[in-house]
Amino acid sequence: MDKKVVTFSKVVKEFDGFKALNNLSFSIDEGGLYGLIGPNGAGKSTAIRIMTGLIKATEGTVDVLGYKPQEAEVRPMVGYMPQEMALYQDLTVRENLEFFGKLYSISKSDLKKRIADLLDFVELSKWGKTVVANLSGGMKHRTSLAVALLSKPRLLVLDEPTVGVDPELRASFWQRFEDMRADGTTILLTTHYMDEARRCEKIGLINHGRLIAEGTPDGLLELTKTRNLEDAFLSLTRRKIVGK
Ligand SMILES: Nc1ncnc2c1ncn2[C@@H]1O[C@H](COP(=O)(O)OP(=O)(O)OP(=O)(O)O)[C@@H](O)[C@H]1O
Ligand SMILES: [Mg+2]
Repeated sequence: MDKKVVTFSKVVKEFDGFKALNNLSFSIDEGGLYGLIGPNGAGKSTAIRIMTGLIKATEGTVDVLGYKPQEAEVRPMVGYMPQEMALYQDLTVRENLEFFGKLYSISKSDLKKRIADLLDFVELSKWGKTVVANLSGGMKHRTSLAVALLSKPRLLVLDEPTVGVDPELRASFWQRFEDMRADGTTILLTTHYMDEARRCEKIGLINHGRLIAEGTPDGLLELTKTRNLEDAFLSLTRRKIVGK
């Protein structure tokens, strides 16, 4: 059996009696690239917020690298790029990176090198002194990705990482994800782009807070007897939920 980096077991998350997650169970293999897909409101971001320790499950258990998600030890091992911007708008790009670097207790000299490398990667080296509020939407996204990569995480959690990112940079993001994976980083991402889902090793489809299908991209096509993931997605989300 492959080693698991993340395991959700029968996770329920209630908001005022509404079950955003309803017995969600799934796991991510070490070194895997797992794509969580599903309609708006399916529960993807809620699952991610639980995984990154921001909110607690109402019921069920979650294991991340052998820890509970909210334990301090596991925090630097998990890089997180939220769907909503979590940057300080009135700080510059570099100041944001420095702030988060200090949170992770990265030494001054390492941090300087890492920030230079990451700004280069997200093509924002010339924008280091610009306050985040004055960046374009895509540039803010690129800054968020740089923050997620700061601590060289073992698990990278990306909530719709390429929304608003231009095609060229999107290709370079994907190259980086694949390079990181080759280096042993485990990646979980959510996406509404089926061409991106296609690149995942495994896809989990959630709807109404439950996992309704899981498999390789080809496995899902086979299961639904469809020829592309868009059709597979529609076929699965329109089905009635049975059991689980
Ligand atoms: N803090 C909250 N309080 C109340 N309801 C919430 C809260 N967070 C999420 N929800 C609800 O939980 C459900 C799942 O939301 P979630 O953000 O996880 O969906 P999602 O799959 O990420 O959707 P999208 O594709 O639009 O990002 C939605 O109905 C949402 O309104
Ligand atoms: Mg979401």
